[in-house]
Amino acid sequence: MHILSVVGARPNFMKIAPIAWEAARRDNIKHTIVHTGQHYDQAMSHSFFDILNIPKPDVNLGIGSASHGVQTGKIMQEFEPIIKELNPDWLIVVGDVNSTIAASLVAIKMGIKTAHVEAGLRSCDRTMPEEINRLATDAISDLLLVTEQSGLDNLKNEGVPDSKVVFTGNVMIDTLVHNLTAAKKVNAAAKFGLTSREYILVTMHRPGNVDDPEKLEELTQTLIDIASQCPVFFPVHPRTRNRLEDIGLWDKLSSADGMHIDTPQDYLTFISLANTAKAVLTDSGGIQEETTYMGVPCLTMRPNTERPSTIDLGTNELIQPNRKEILEATSRLLSGNWKKGTVPPLWDGNAASRVLDALENHDK
Ligand code: UD1
Repeated sequence: MHILSVVGARPNFMKIAPIAWEAARRDNIKHTIVHTGQHYDQAMSHSFFDILNIPKPDVNLGIGSASHGVQTGKIMQEFEPIIKELNPDWLIVVGDVNSTIAASLVAIKMGIKTAHVEAGLRSCDRTMPEEINRLATDAISDLLLVTEQSGLDNLKNEGVPDSKVVFTGNVMIDTLVHNLTAAKKVNAAAKFGLTSREYILVTMHRPGNVDDPEKLEELTQTLIDIASQCPVFFPVHPRTRNRLEDIGLWDKLSSADGMHIDTPQDYLTFISLANTAKAVLTDSGGIQEETTYMGVPCLTMRPNTERPSTIDLGTNELIQPNRKEILEATSRLLSGNWKKGTVPPLWDGNAASRVLDALENHDK
């Protein structure tokens, strides 16, 4: 069986890694990786391949950054001849980035069976580009591989037949399970002069939080205020850095008391930092899941989440992305008042094996 996996942006790499490792263990599977080049920096892309031991992509489409229409269209245009030439039995796409919908749309129209890993998640917020990518990819894929209960419920409510859906668990947690010991050895907090459980790790890059100058200014001032109460480590996503520079807030943020600004970190360093943080304040999708697995409090600065099991079972809480709510939640956290969580079902390190089993069983 020839499986072609497509990756494009940072959160895709830790999802494809365990699938690549598992495919390599199975004699009957040939695995090809196509990188669209949606992300291209060492920090946003290459470091993940090196550290997570993902085979070098067989093809890199080199698409790069652009508007949604241009980026999605260019990926489709460049991917079509590749899939025609390689003619795999299956395409695997992961997550919800532009590369996910672009690749699946091309493959399905060419009659290639397509499996969507991390299917069924819904924020029900169609202003998020990722929500459109999730809805569209699920609507056209042949096999929908689900990470958590809400994914099963959403697909059922949308009328998807059970025969298309398999509850495999969370491949990104496979990567975490297999790397947590190595990440702990990195001891990144000490390297950055931070004390375990005495700093807050921040990530922020959602267009809803960083693209509107007024919102970005409000959130930046809020982070500066938090840093004056508890050290903050903030590895800044390039989108956010660009926006901060555009509105002249970069210097103010990076020189604020208690604020440690840095570039995006490699996977092991980031997990090490998250694992020993007092809490993580984020607008990411995947980090809500990683903190739930590690039992670290997570404050998600968003009006909604497509990963409700991190709230129902895990350590996550949604905080409206405004100054008042973030400061209230932070002071509750700093006074030691945060829930303990549990790990959702099938977040056990073996999801990639169930993903490949699902593809093999589908063909029987
Ligand atoms: C994309 C995903 C988002 C994911 C995020 C993780 C979509 C619609 N969005 O958003 O779901 O959470 O990746 O990072 O697919 N840039 C660099 N170097 C890079 C890549 C990007 O400097 O390697 C800069 C460019 O200025 C670019 C900007 O970051 O314009 C934004 O990148 P883009 O891929 O458009 O979207 P993300 O915000 O990263």
